[in-house]
Amino acid sequence: MTVESDVPAIVVLGSINMDLVTTTARRPVPGETVLGSGFAMVPGGKGANQAIAARRAGGEVRFLGAVGDDVFAGELRRSLTDAAVFTDRLRTVAGPSGIATIVVDDDGENSIIVVGGANTRMSELTEDDLAAIAAADILLCQLEIPVDTVAAAARHARAHGTTVLLNPSPARALPADLWTNVDVAVVNSGEAEQLDADLDTVAHLVVTRGAAGADYRGPDGARFSRPSPQVDVVDTTGAGDAFTGALAAAWHRGPEWALTWACAAGALATTRLGASSSIPAREEITAAMVAE
Ligand code: RIB
Repeated sequence: MTVESDVPAIVVLGSINMDLVTTTARRPVPGETVLGSGFAMVPGGKGANQAIAARRAGGEVRFLGAVGDDVFAGELRRSLTDAAVFTDRLRTVAGPSGIATIVVDDDGENSIIVVGGANTRMSELTEDDLAAIAAADILLCQLEIPVDTVAAAARHARAHGTTVLLNPSPARALPADLWTNVDVAVVNSGEAEQLDADLDTVAHLVVTRGAAGADYRGPDGARFSRPSPQVDVVDTTGAGDAFTGALAAAWHRGPEWALTWACAAGALATTRLGASSSIPAREEITAAMVAE
């Protein structure tokens, strides 16, 4: 731990997108047009959401990523600095920032299309990036930037004793050497089915099950489940990111405590619209745990 003993230093390597969020009673089927009920632009991206979630949950967080040089870049950068996430390793590259088109229905379920933009240009790690990873307690990654960059970061983290948390989302086949450098994998139940045997190589596996909570499987055969606080769902977008960021911030307290904390954070994130805008503060998470 760096700053003080209970504050882990977390480096999040990942995406940052402007989310274009449309709300509608129900999502259209192919070929159908429906009338929507609202529209909002909210900073998102799995990487940025998890960075903000880890910060709000109590970590000291540095974000490694890229924005473009378009109209969205300033607001995306500000969303991180406003949340007190360090952005000295956030680069600006020529071209558009990442964009996510999101449709949220009355049940709070969503459909998302991501166009990577600047995130796809995160193909190299600088000496300063590598130094930040080596100095951190935890490296947290997802798969909305090039996989080779994630693999290089995980390799470097492992070599320097930095714990690697991977949220392999969107799920896809990954090089075997990436899995061997992952300490903790966080997947939803769909991703768990898709990735299946790959997950066997990971020491700590966390499977999120939406309103049902989350399951844990440890290196010594330990298994347990944690329930999720029951809440009124508005929008599930970013709930997995709130869970994962909170888990990273609490990992040093042990899997049992960290899963309980993360389940509370994920549930609270579903009670508000948007991704980064829905991520709960530390005090809210604590209150939700106490209320359980
Ligand atoms: O996990 C939710 C996120 O997925 C959204 O913020 C969107 O940008 C996509 O990355």
